Amino acid sequence: MTSQITLKRPDDWHLHLRDGNMLHAVLPSTATHFARAIIMPNLVPPVVTSADAAGYRDRILSALPEGSTFEPLMTLYLTEQTDPDDVAAAHASGLIKAVKLYPAGATTNSSSGVSHFDSVRPTLERMAEIGLPLCVHGEVTDSDIDIFDREAVFIDRVLDPIRRTTPGLRVVMEHITTSNAVEYARSQDDTLGATITTHHLVINRNHILAGGIKPHYYCLPVAKREEHRLALRDAATSGEARFFLGTDSAPHTDANKLLPCGCAGCFTAPNTMSILAQAFEEDGALDKLEGFTSLNGPAFYGLPVNEETITLTKGDPVTYPSHVETPDGPVTVFDPGFDLNWRVE
Ligand code: NCD
Ligand code: ZN
Repeated sequence: MTSQITLKRPDDWHLHLRDGNMLHAVLPSTATHFARAIIMPNLVPPVVTSADAAGYRDRILSALPEGSTFEPLMTLYLTEQTDPDDVAAAHASGLIKAVKLYPAGATTNSSSGVSHFDSVRPTLERMAEIGLPLCVHGEVTDSDIDIFDREAVFIDRVLDPIRRTTPGLRVVMEHITTSNAVEYARSQDDTLGATITTHHLVINRNHILAGGIKPHYYCLPVAKREEHRLALRDAATSGEARFFLGTDSAPHTDANKLLPCGCAGCFTAPNTMSILAQAFEEDGALDKLEGFTSLNGPAFYGLPVNEETITLTKGDPVTYPSHVETPDGPVTVFDPGFDLNWRVE
């Protein structure tokens, strides 16, 4: 029985670090285990220009623990006013590694996102030319579409048309939650990648709703039926290069999670690697963990694999603090609902 596993240092291809107090409180959780992360731009106000991204990058770097070599990979938030020249310059200088598409209103801080997809076509065409990936929050926002169907409908109505009209555009389907998304990703060429979160490998919609509502399991896209979770587990553990880790670790204070209209997001940064090792072991796929966390993402983004490694050891149950403290109040760490036996050394 394997009791130790050494991986190239992992990267997180979808991460919310926030800003100010929250940034300082949550950044160490990621920087401890991960070498790099794609940093989501949904701040208030959002990171829309290269100047915004440069400023945010500096704030992240200055919040890093002493001696940390963690590298934030910056993104721009696509709006209908985005200037393709600004995007191209930010890419050419190495400042940004992706542009993020939020359908307006789809999730936390997405009101500046896109309503008319035709209006961003010039930017998407420029991105296809220069090889800059588009990270996509794949949910429609129509009030008449059931929230559990919004990802599947987005693929048909928005994503597939964008792929057809913008050949060559590199696209990441982010935080996929359905077998529909897994199937679509598998039907496409290597210009399409898909990230999967830690929590969507672990919870289904019963975890949120059965036996009392669990706000800490509420995130967007919302977790779906068990058959979809199993499709995600199959994809993540398959070793296929198109699937890689994007935790979507999305910290909110407990006060903001527990409101009558609570925020969406699961904070998984502290214990993600332990949870993933447990899940991959359960599926007899520990040998596929490194691909998912450390190899497939860099390959998609055309970046080198990290030279450093991390080692996970199996032993007595490992505990993580249930909360991370911030000056604005505690942030609850995701509870996978089972014992964790894999410790990151
Ligand atoms: C994210 C957040 O809080 O910023 N929330 C979430 O539930 N995942 C936004 C997002 O990625 O959808
Ligand atoms: Zn996110």
